[in-house]
Amino acid sequence: MWLGTQRANAAGNLEIGGCDVTRLAAEFGTPLYVVDEALIRSNCREFSAAFAARYPSVVVCYAGKAFLTLAMARIVAQEGLSIDVASLGELYTAVRAGFPRKRINLHGNNKSREELEMAVSIGIGHVIVDNFLEIEMLQAVVREQHKSMNVLVRCTPGVDPHTHKFISTGQADTKFGFNIKDGSAIEAVRRLLASDGVVFDGLHCHVGSQLLDTQAHEGAVDALVGLMAEIERRFGQSCKMLNIGGGLGVRYTEDQRPPSYDEFAEVVTSRLKSALDRAGLKYPTLAQEPGRALVGEAGTTLYTVGSIKTVPITEAPGHRTYVSVDGGMSDNPRPQLYDAVYQVIVANRATEKHDQIVSIAGKHCETDVLIWNVAAAAMKTGDILAVQTTGAYNHGMASNYNRFLRPAVVLVNDGAADLVVERETLRDLLRKERVPQRLRAGGQRRSRSLSAK
Ligand code: LLP
Repeated sequence: MWLGTQRANAAGNLEIGGCDVTRLAAEFGTPLYVVDEALIRSNCREFSAAFAARYPSVVVCYAGKAFLTLAMARIVAQEGLSIDVASLGELYTAVRAGFPRKRINLHGNNKSREELEMAVSIGIGHVIVDNFLEIEMLQAVVREQHKSMNVLVRCTPGVDPHTHKFISTGQADTKFGFNIKDGSAIEAVRRLLASDGVVFDGLHCHVGSQLLDTQAHEGAVDALVGLMAEIERRFGQSCKMLNIGGGLGVRYTEDQRPPSYDEFAEVVTSRLKSALDRAGLKYPTLAQEPGRALVGEAGTTLYTVGSIKTVPITEAPGHRTYVSVDGGMSDNPRPQLYDAVYQVIVANRATEKHDQIVSIAGKHCETDVLIWNVAAAAMKTGDILAVQTTGAYNHGMASNYNRFLRPAVVLVNDGAADLVVERETLRDLLRKERVPQRLRAGGQRRSRSLSAK
């Protein structure tokens, strides 16, 4: 049985961050996202240290899309990392958390003028430019605000990362970034070098996510160093920064073996140094954007077990047991979207043998099965079920489907538990809704006409 980064306490209950999770469930209710602060902090330190030990200048920029709240932003800031944001909302969250502005970088394949205006007015570190329209918009915004902005050029290195197609982004056929092979990337650099106020600082790529080997990153490093050499040759311009994005995978199941931080750092830095040396280029700052690798295994979702039923099936073993829990695709859409697979622990009997095969069913009105055929201890109604490795892309991708209330997030550390996101209430669900007068009892007033007549 696999407890991942967690342990069982003397009572035989699952413990995370020194907190008995059955107590967390009782106090905060379920479904509940539990986030292990000490693990996030040590991940931030160890990831940075693995690269700093092997390369002269390193920036680690947490990819906020994986999990972002005010508290999370503060942890990342305290650990000295930078942060990457990909929307107005993520930018706003980082700023309101007091994140040092020069350590914020803005991403997006279709940034709005509003996003660029906010980025320039507060003076963030870098905008990662993604297309020609954005370059023009950014030039206009810096002119208007009499400011400047440092940028990296996002490139598609043309490598296939062999991960789920929805999270592959390094191949040439993608909505993201400037294609290297067709000359778009070099043209973007040319335009930036000719422009005032928008300052070219280097290159960026992100090849894909949940990668369990280093092949795609190696290919990307080669492609980007090739482009750096061309920029030097054509324009006599060196790149100050090379950002190779995120993508390092985590363990969702016991059999997955992503490279360790050290293994990953060793491959990336040695590949980069030898490519730079061969091309005779100065070493740029190496920037990265890990998201999942820093928070994935630090998150666990707790559910309460409800109905359990066994049905006959035609294939072996001749029956299937559905264990229904009080959440589902609204708090974790990843199984439906990416065929993601998870492991579980019965939290109130964490040391018991996993001698049953069950399917964990969500409670949404469709085939909402969180995990098919997973090994678990025997379960009964009222048990607390822990689904592991839900720290990345769960809270951030949660929805109100079926008008479910989004769960609370509790941050645990050294035996203390702090609520960092409250559970939504029924009131929250209706907070933004309005009923037109004509739909109210006895209402006569006509609605505002928006027709062209
Ligand atoms: N940098 C950029 C530009 C990105 O687009 C991403 C993720 C990252 C960094 C961080 O990647 P990570 O280290 O977390 O792999 N919702 C999907 C994942 C989408 C990833 C999108 N971009 C999922 O649940 O698997």
